[in-house]
Amino acid sequence: MVVSNRCNVPRGGSAPGGLAVALTAALRECGGLWFGWNGKVAEDGGRKPTMARVDEVDYATLPLARDAYEGYYKGYANRVLWPLCHYRVESIQYRHWFEDRYWRTNELFARKLLPLLGTDDRIWVHDYHLIPLGSALREAEVRQPLGFFLHIPFPSPDVLRALPQWHRLLWDLCAYDLVGFQTRDDAQNFLEALRRLTRAKVGRDGSVSWDGRRCRAAAFPISIDVEEVCRMVQGGRDIRTVRDLERSLQGRALIVGVDRLDYSKGLPERFQSYAHLLANYPQVHGRVVFLQVAQPSRADVPEYAQLKTRLEAIVGHINGEFAEFDWAPIRYINKTYARATIMNFLAMARVGLVTPLRDGMNLVAKEFIAAQTSEDPGVLILSEFAGAARELDSALLVNPHDQESVADALGRAMDMPLEERRERWQHGLDRIRGNDVFHWSRSFLEALERCRSS
Ligand code: G6P
Repeated sequence: MVVSNRCNVPRGGSAPGGLAVALTAALRECGGLWFGWNGKVAEDGGRKPTMARVDEVDYATLPLARDAYEGYYKGYANRVLWPLCHYRVESIQYRHWFEDRYWRTNELFARKLLPLLGTDDRIWVHDYHLIPLGSALREAEVRQPLGFFLHIPFPSPDVLRALPQWHRLLWDLCAYDLVGFQTRDDAQNFLEALRRLTRAKVGRDGSVSWDGRRCRAAAFPISIDVEEVCRMVQGGRDIRTVRDLERSLQGRALIVGVDRLDYSKGLPERFQSYAHLLANYPQVHGRVVFLQVAQPSRADVPEYAQLKTRLEAIVGHINGEFAEFDWAPIRYINKTYARATIMNFLAMARVGLVTPLRDGMNLVAKEFIAAQTSEDPGVLILSEFAGAARELDSALLVNPHDQESVADALGRAMDMPLEERRERWQHGLDRIRGNDVFHWSRSFLEALERCRSS
């Protein structure tokens, strides 16, 4: 049984985030039920979940009541935990009632889940919205194996302490048998916080024992279904938008960025880096196009609305300064495309620009590699602050705050000889094939079994 805050029953045509992509792939392999919020707000949020079945996977979804949406989702999850875990302490908007709705909504999820649970089920809870769910299930006498996976970074102990409830969150995480993180650094931050700030006993193997609770922490870097991306790229010629993009480029090199419109993605810094490229490398004028797809996200959270306005101004300045009558250097698109279309945008690009200021993993980096082919592979420019940088160290790694160096990396990527591009790409592809999404889910579930049997 998979539980995550957002649970979209697949309908085709939508552009899901990294969590949704990975879980759909994992559940299709081993079957099961996915429980979560259907994305709607209803005055009566307390109804029975709606059941659906698509491609061998069962879905149980329910709406959120208005105050849960405001306090649990928009408030505590997205204005407190999200900025905290992305090291944006100054952006935290903490309110007592957010905290109250967060824990209460987790208790509600637990109550709705109980009637659906089978005795042989393993329960796998996902992401920062649902940290207290494990405690709530244990209090309801649930004995089944309980795993938790955090899709976003886990902050260092000093940053964690900015959160008034840091102790309660650590305690709730220890209710799970296994707590999975994206990288070893994230797992170490969690263990270090327990060691430094609590009475927990922490073993070198990631085992934790704290006032009767026992759990284990480890890294399980999330990944993609490589073959799915390859299939989408092979069918790319049939997609009209893809053909139209190619035609519109008129042979110019494409730099591509694809992100949710989120302040953790470093979009203003990325645009300014591109402006440095245009200023310092006049030879690229008229020969390159930067396509940034920024998929609308959390638009009614004020920090996201402010970012949108800011980005529009930056793009306007850059095009205003550098555009010619027949060439606009940036194409900034604020909408969502079908996944297959996006994979083909990635495939067409000479450079994939993935420069978040902080990111748990960033699956676009992995999708970019999977979408390339050996004849003429593009170059990935990747932020050292994305979890993916641990595995994709053959990319051009950059510090997104250093805009001139990112511009130099862009210049280097555009001129990179075919042989070097192939070598770097092959290295990245081997890494991703060695740890695809099926390996990720299998290794987490096997580790969960081992935790229980020991
Ligand atoms: C990130 C989070 C996911 C979340 C997704 C989309 O990938 O880790 O948990 O579902 O963003 O955000 P949203 O707020 O629209 O669910």
